[in-house]
Formats: sequence, structure tokens, C-alpha cells
Amino acid sequence: MAFPAATPPKVTQVDPDEGPLDIMLPLRSAGSLENPYPIYDLLRTVRPALPIPMPENAGSSAWLLTRYDDVHLVLSDRRFSADRMNSPLIRNNLDRLPDFLRQSAEGLRNLLTLDPPDHTRIRKLVNKAFTPKRIEALRGHIESITENLLDDLKSNRSFDLIHEVAEPLPAVVIAELLGVPARDHRQFRNWSSALIQALGSPDAKHRKAATEAGQHLFAYLSKIIEERRKEPRDDLISAMLEAQEEKDALTDLELLATSNLLLIAGHETTTHLIGNGVLNLLREPSAWERLCREPQMMNSAVEELLRFDGPVQATLRVAREDVEISEKVIPKGALVVASIGAANRDPAIFEDPGRLCLDRHPNPHLGFGFSTHFCLGAPLARLETEVVLRALTQRFPHLSLADENPKYRENPILRGLTKLELNP
Ligand code: HEM
Repeated sequence: MAFPAATPPKVTQVDPDEGPLDIMLPLRSAGSLENPYPIYDLLRTVRPALPIPMPENAGSSAWLLTRYDDVHLVLSDRRFSADRMNSPLIRNNLDRLPDFLRQSAEGLRNLLTLDPPDHTRIRKLVNKAFTPKRIEALRGHIESITENLLDDLKSNRSFDLIHEVAEPLPAVVIAELLGVPARDHRQFRNWSSALIQALGSPDAKHRKAATEAGQHLFAYLSKIIEERRKEPRDDLISAMLEAQEEKDALTDLELLATSNLLLIAGHETTTHLIGNGVLNLLREPSAWERLCREPQMMNSAVEELLRFDGPVQATLRVAREDVEISEKVIPKGALVVASIGAANRDPAIFEDPGRLCLDRHPNPHLGFGFSTHFCLGAPLARLETEVVLRALTQRFPHLSLADENPKYRENPILRGLTKLELNP
């Protein structure tokens, strides 16, 4: 059977007279990339359910939610759908949306954008291959990749943590898990970075680059899937292909969408938990020193870094019916931007939320989402971050920032640094 994804996804042209829809507009205000938290605090206080300005002909409204209880509700209540196509705003404006959003809404719907029962069926299959036990078994391997990356650093010279460690480690690990050649990691990282950049930018140049990158990535993955179909190996793609034989199993397109999601989600996020995490620990040297002295605090430190400045700042849902939230009616069909970053700093839930408290307990942060779509890769992300922090604290107890104000990527949803220069 021919594999459908070898055919590139549909490319639609953006009409220049109808500019792109900038759903993230309120989060793109001046200074907010460096530090979005004051704006979150302000919005949560004065307008916790904020209508996002949209053109009159957009089709439906969009809302930004910043209270913990509201974000928690939206992530767990069946009155909200993860299928972006349920919103006329998305359905009627596909050509005006960032590519990544358009593809996942349109042709290549994946776990993130599916509702039960399709979501349940696919998640069950992927869960089987992605068990916490299988992930924990990778610990020794992740440690040795980390040690090798750190060995490669030139001694006594400053180094860029993002480029040298935080990017390659998760990319190599997810590639190996999936069964994608790890030596290609820089290539597929470039493609996924182009996709992610367009998600955060209404710029036409970024959108064009993302369309091309998406096509390359799909063609690349389709070829690997076809190879594994002929010759299975001990990897996730082969395991998912095996599951295809079962009743109620994945379609070819779902398999491609899932592999694509895992490849992108598997490294774009963890890279930035490591980067944001180390930056925040070093901005408060007593926190770094404490972690060096008390490595038993590593697990709770990782949770606190996810809360304090996690890489996933927001996610989307669509109201299936009118729902009252924070004294506003979110109408049926409205698109909801649930601000995880703002929820995680809500003083109604977290005492002194602007303080990095490495042994915070309890810490019910929403950094990995909540309920049905709770992050599949959470055990892997936690393990990778813990291993890197442990290795860095052991090797470089006097680590410090070589640049006090590192630059952020232009992306208010996936928050992360372009570079983090450190003195060993
Ligand atoms: C620090 C790293 C990570 C963070 C902060 C993170 C965050 C999230 C969040 C917030 C969601 C829920 C989105 C929603 O409800 O709309 C999610 C879902 C997901 N994540 Fe992660 N993630 C991380 C790492 C990973 C890794 C390493 C993988 C894969 C290996 C992964 C795979 C996924 C998948 C497949 C989903 C969709 C689950 C579903 O819809 O059932 N993530 N992640």
C-alpha cells in the first residue's frame, strides 16, 4: 500500500490583503518575551478572561485566560474541545494561520488536536510503547550522552549551553527512541525550529520557511516509516507499525502525525526547560548553590522550574457550548488560549508565586498540562532535565552567566532562549 504522507501536505497561499491572524497578540506586547509575567499578573487581576482583538470577518471570538482555576477547567472539562477545527475562527481562516497550527488543524491532526474517542484510541497505543519503565531504563544512556557532550566542551572557556547540550541531548534521545537516525538530529531540528518559529510569528518569511520545512520533515519521516514497515527494528515507529495490525489501530496518516508530533515535542520543549531552568537557577546564585549542596532536591527543583518559567506557556481549546468563565460568557465556537504560564504564577494557588522555591510542596503546576492531554513525554522530559542538572552541578559548582540578558526566541507560546553563554 502506498504511504499517503509521501505526498506533501496541501500548501495554501496567504492572501497579502488579508493579513495573518495574530492570536497571540496580547502576549506579544513590548518586553513580554523577556518577561511575560508582569503582563500575566496584570491581566489575571483586571481582565482574567480577555477577548483577543480579531477582525470582524474572522468568524468567532478568541479569549485569553490567565487564572489557574480557569485554565485548569478548560484543560479538563468536556465542554472544551482540543480539535481546533471546531472553531469557525480556525476553520474559516486556515490560510491566515501559522503553518504548524494550520497543519495540525487541517490534514495532519495529532494527539494534541484530537478529542475522544480518536484521542483515546491513539493515546492508548502510544502509551504502550512509551511506558515510564521504558523511559527509566534509558537513564544510564542519557547520562552517558550528557557526559560525552560535557566532555566535548573546551575546558575553562565559556560555552553555549543551548547549542552544546540542551539542543542535542533531547534530539538524539527522541530520535533513537523513535528510530530516526540520530546523526540527522541537526537537520530535523532545523526543520522543527522553522515550524515552531512560524507558530510564534505572523511574519510571511517565517511562514514560507515553515511550509517548506514541514514538507521536508514529512517526506523524511514517511521514508523512515516505509523502511521500518519492510524491516522492523526495536524502536517506537516499528512498535506503532506493529500496533497497526491490531483492531482499532492507527491509520497511516495518524502514524505519520504521531511520529511527527513526538519528534517535534520530544526536543523543542525539553531543550527550553533545561535552558530556562539553568538561567533561573543562576540568576539566583543561592538556588544554584543549594542544588549543588543538596542534590536530593533535584526532582522537586525540576517541578519548580516547570512552574516558574516552563517552556510551554499556552495551549488552545475550543468552547463546544457557551461557558461562563470569570464572569464572562465564552461563546460556543470561541477559541480559548489557556495561559499555562500565567496559571502557574497565580497567587490564589501558589504562595509567593514570583519566588523560585526549589522545595515547593505541594506544586500542582500545569507545566505539562492536565487531564486528557497531559504530556505523554513528561517522564522523559523530567529524566533528561534531572540528568543534565545533576551533571552540571557536579562538574561546574561555580557555573555563572557569561551574559546576564540572553536573547529569547520570538515565540510567546514555546518560551526559550536562542543561546545561553555560561562560564564554567
Ligand atoms: C519540558 C518538556 C515538556 C513540556 C513542558 C511539555 C508540555 C506539554 C503540555 C503542556 C502538553 C499538553 C498540551 C495540551 O493540553 O494542549 C503536552 C502534551 C504532549 N507532549 Fe509534552 N512537554 C514536554 C516534553 C515532551 C516530550 C519529551 C515529549 C515526547 C517525547 C512530549 C510529547 C507530548 C505529546 C505527544 C503530547 C500530547 C498528549 C496528548 O494530547 O494526549 N512532550 N506537553
